[in-house]
Amino acid sequence: MVGLPARGKTYISKKLSRYLNWIGINTKVFNLGEYRRHATSAYKNHEFFRLNIFFRPDNQEAMAIRTQCALEALHDVCQWLENGGEVAVFDATNSTLDRRKLIHDFVVTKMGFKLFFVESICDDPDIIEQNIREVKVSSPDYTNMNKDTVLTDFLQRIQHYQEKYDPLDEIKEKDVSFMKIYNTGEKVVVHKHEGHVQARIVYYLMNIHITPRTIYLTRHGESEQNLDGRIGGDSNLSSRGKQYASALSKFIHEQKIEGLRVWTSWLKRTIQTVSGLHVPQERWKALNEIDAGVCEEMTYEEIKEKYPEEFSSRDTNKFAYRYPRGESYEDLVARLEPVIMELERQGNVLVVSHQAVLRCLLAYFLDKSADELPYLKVPLHSVIKLTPVAYGCRVEEISLNIDCVDTHRPKPKEPGQISMVENDKSEHFAN
Ligand code: SIN
Repeated sequence: MVGLPARGKTYISKKLSRYLNWIGINTKVFNLGEYRRHATSAYKNHEFFRLNIFFRPDNQEAMAIRTQCALEALHDVCQWLENGGEVAVFDATNSTLDRRKLIHDFVVTKMGFKLFFVESICDDPDIIEQNIREVKVSSPDYTNMNKDTVLTDFLQRIQHYQEKYDPLDEIKEKDVSFMKIYNTGEKVVVHKHEGHVQARIVYYLMNIHITPRTIYLTRHGESEQNLDGRIGGDSNLSSRGKQYASALSKFIHEQKIEGLRVWTSWLKRTIQTVSGLHVPQERWKALNEIDAGVCEEMTYEEIKEKYPEEFSSRDTNKFAYRYPRGESYEDLVARLEPVIMELERQGNVLVVSHQAVLRCLLAYFLDKSADELPYLKVPLHSVIKLTPVAYGCRVEEISLNIDCVDTHRPKPKEPGQISMVENDKSEHFAN
C-alpha cells in the first residue's frame, strides 16, 4: 500500500485480503503500525512522526525504530511468501521514493517476488475526517483520549508525512507496477500491471465503494421438497413457505429501505418467496442452489444407500467435494464471484437464494475459511442483515417466526454418519 495516513489503506488491505482468500488465493496483511506498537510504546503524540530532525534532534531514535520495524515486517512478508503464502499486503504509508526502492530491492531484487503498489489518494477533507473519527479514535495509539484531541493530533501526524510525500510517479518509477485510486474510486490509474492476480486486484478495487448500505440475505420459504428431505430440485413453496413469503414482504416493506433491489435465483421457490415484494427484481442463474448432480432430488438416506463412498467422502472435505456430474462448494464460490462483484457495486440489496449459495456469500462478508464455510448456519425463515462497519460487517439474524424444517446438517463425528449431532429436533437436512 502507498498513501498518507487516513486514506483508507487498512480498509483496502483488509477487504482485499478477505476477497483474495475467498477466491482461494492465500493472503495475509502485515500492518506496520502494529510492528511499531510492538517495538516501542514511545508514541505519545504526532511528534513521533516528525521528519525534520532540526526541530526535534531526538527524533533520530524514532526514525531508526521506524526503519527497523519496516525491515522486520518485510522480512516476515518474505518468510510468509516462502512458506506457502501467495499474496502479502504490506499495509504502511510507503510514501517516499526511498522507502519504495527499499521494498523493491528486498522483495523483487533479492527475493524474486512480484510487487504491485496500490496508492490511495484522497483530497476530500470530509472523507479524511470521517476516517479519523471512525477508525483512528479507537487506535491503540489513542487510548482514553477524547475524539477532538485525536483528530487534532492525527491531522498533525498527516502533516509530517505530507512534508516528504512522493506520490507514485509514472516517470520516476517507470518500471514499477502500480495502481492509484483517487477519492475512494472516483478515478483509477493502472500502470504496467503484471499478470492475472494483479488484474483481479485492480478489477476488485475498481468495484468497491464506501457509501453506507445494507445487504439482506434470506433463503426461499420452505419448499415441498424440504418437507420430504430431498436436496436440489425445483419445487413449489409449502404452505408454511408461502406464509414466510407474506411475512418477508411485510418485514421488508416495514423497513422502508431506500432504493432496495431484490435478487433471486432462477428457481421457483425463490421467485415465489418475493412475489409480494413490489420493488425492482432481478433473476440470477448464478444464485441457483449447488448442483447435486446424480444426487439431485434424493434424500440423504437414499444417497448413503446408493453412493456410500460418495456420501462419506463429502464429509471428509465438504468444501472441495464435487457431486458426480454436479458441483462443489469451491465451484460455487467461482460461480458466485460476479455476484459478489456486483453486490460490491450496489446499494441496498435483498438476496433471496439457497442454503449452499448463502453460505458462500456469508463466508465472503464474514471472512470465514473454506473449512468453516460449508457448515455455516443459514436457517430457513430468517433474514440475515449485514451492515458494513469500520473494517468489517455487523451481522444480525432476524427470525420471522414461521415454523419450518431445519435443513442444517452439522459436521458428523465420523464421515458418512447420518444422524443429527447438534440438533435432534431437526426433521430434515439438505446440501
Ligand atoms: C505507523 O507506525 O503507525 C505506520 C508507519 C507508516 O506506515 O509509515
